[in-house]
Amino acid sequence: MNNLNPNIPEAVRAVASDGTQLRYALMELSAQYKDAIALGRGDPDLATPEHILAAVEESIIQQKTGLTPVAGMPEIREAIAKKFQRENGLSVSAENVMVTTGGQEALYLLMQTLLDPGDEVLVPDPRYTSYDEAIESAGGKMVMVPTDQVDAFNLRPEAVEAAITPKTKALLIITPSNPTGGIVTEERLREIAAIAIKHNLIVISDEIYEKFVYDDWKHFSIGSLPGMEDRTITLNGFSKTYAMTGFRIGFVAAPKNFIDAMTKVKAITSGPVATISQWAGIAALTGSQAPIEEFRQIYSERRRFMMDGLSAMGLTYSDPRGAFFLWTDCSSIGVHSTELSYLLLKEAQVLIFPGTGFGENWGGYLRISLLQTTDLLREALDRMKPVVEKYRALR
Ligand SMILES: Cc1ncc(COP(=O)(O)O)c(C=O)c1O
Repeated sequence: MNNLNPNIPEAVRAVASDGTQLRYALMELSAQYKDAIALGRGDPDLATPEHILAAVEESIIQQKTGLTPVAGMPEIREAIAKKFQRENGLSVSAENVMVTTGGQEALYLLMQTLLDPGDEVLVPDPRYTSYDEAIESAGGKMVMVPTDQVDAFNLRPEAVEAAITPKTKALLIITPSNPTGGIVTEERLREIAAIAIKHNLIVISDEIYEKFVYDDWKHFSIGSLPGMEDRTITLNGFSKTYAMTGFRIGFVAAPKNFIDAMTKVKAITSGPVATISQWAGIAALTGSQAPIEEFRQIYSERRRFMMDGLSAMGLTYSDPRGAFFLWTDCSSIGVHSTELSYLLLKEAQVLIFPGTGFGENWGGYLRISLLQTTDLLREALDRMKPVVEKYRALR
């Protein structure tokens, strides 16, 4: 990464090899551009459904705002357990679940609880790099499992098995995937489950984008398979499904002893989740689920629109089967993605994260998110086109 164009600001250059910091540095830089269109964001732009907001209002009026148990109110743990049974086929009850301050806290707490120094965790590459820091700060070591566009970034069981060593404790699966929009298919998950059982691995299954799958693709939960119940930690949350990112509430299902241990770590870090967010969560899980399908339709239309727009620009992307990102191959432009991101921001005022925000091997990709209106997506494409053409011509 040292041969980056010297014109890139030091704030970006200094963190170029750290995916998470790089994304934050670019977001900060984009604040300087008044009209920047943020196609980097991962928080839904759509409005939180009315009935969820009404439940929060009601809880405040009734002053149901006192402190709750650390793992969450019994009502929400019950509602989450029912959701996991009904939608994901998990055999869990309220004592197997807890709420967390976003999936973000969940992934940190679970690594703190799970790992001993020197333990290895198999991680798909590319990946949501918050896991990097969570694993490292618990003394663990990441071991990459390569994935690629030929396979639409589906996880390959043989690649998982090849990465296992005597120190491997866990395997991370993120399906649908941030950043690639790939999914891990049921067929592959069945093979991967057999590997996890054979090698006595824990599986961490991040399913935070589960509701957003397209065409005929289906989401499948590995924790529902025989023999996986006692070795799967399933992570999910409200941010994406219900457009509730600012409520900061996520949740986890795991064996009871693990939930109890994780609750102890949570007690000394953040304590319970904000009570009004828990009421919002209960309303989300027990109220109408119709908004989710409305959201999915909107993302699906935007996805089609961007796919056509990028193709018209001569760019290709991995088959986006889920989530709300287009993992776009920018190698034909001939500029490293960290630099290209900066140039798109400076010259087109469009913020797009480079592939390197999701692992250092991804200098040939951009992650374009679909979390703006179609009008803004159109405007972003119009602004990007001359920049893409200019640098492609300089190749
Ligand atoms: C794969 C993945 N897991 C977890 C999270 C955490 O989300 P939140 O803390 O908003 O629940 C994100 C956020 O972008 C994500 O992409």
